[in-house]
Amino acid sequence: MGIWEMSGNYGGEQEVFRRNKLLLKCIQVGLFCTNCYLVMNEDTSEGLIIDPGADPIKICYAIDDMGMIPVAILLTHGHFDHIMAVNELKRKYDIRVFILDAEKKLLSDPVLNSSNGLIKQPYTTSADVFLEDNDSVVLAGLTIKVIATPGHTVGGACYHLSKQKILFSGDTLFYESIGRSDLPTGDSDLLIKSVRTRLAVLPEDTFVLPGHGVTTSIGHEKRCNSYMRSNKYNE
Ligand SMILES: [Fe+2]
Repeated sequence: MGIWEMSGNYGGEQEVFRRNKLLLKCIQVGLFCTNCYLVMNEDTSEGLIIDPGADPIKICYAIDDMGMIPVAILLTHGHFDHIMAVNELKRKYDIRVFILDAEKKLLSDPVLNSSNGLIKQPYTTSADVFLEDNDSVVLAGLTIKVIATPGHTVGGACYHLSKQKILFSGDTLFYESIGRSDLPTGDSDLLIKSVRTRLAVLPEDTFVLPGHGVTTSIGHEKRCNSYMRSNKYNE
């Protein structure tokens, strides 16, 4: 990752990455240490909030610290640990929430989003824009391609900024691993297929920012992640 100028606490509460006038901050939120990402276009100070899973006050402090003007919330999927600050942030900033259309039902169903089953705190929220596979959206001056990666959940997605060579992989792809598939709407075969057919084909120098844990790259995962190397779904 030598091309990145990095600062902050490595492996700690916050990490900051800067590239080509893009400022990225990762904040770990909630009991499950979800990576909430703040992505700011330094030309305009506009930016995105990705997966605000908890701790809205902490997220707001980080936004203020960056001087970021939030313009949208992007959700990689609807699990409770990625959405539980959405209502507060929507109220504070009056911005739209984006999610894959196939994931819509998780937002309104505490059983499907596992807030009922895993933490006994039923939570619901809603989105404003429902995306489809291969959509491209321009937000904060950044072009974001939607890659549907079902398997962790039915409507899970990764967000690809091809110009900046960045992938927000949610709980689909982790450092040398992949997400679980035993929660409602999960499907292990589909998850491996998504990783193998939709993510392994990206450029190897794509910087991968997952929903939990440390960053990686497509190249590293192709070499070291047995799920991605699997030939089971070669076409
Ligand atoms: Fe998840």
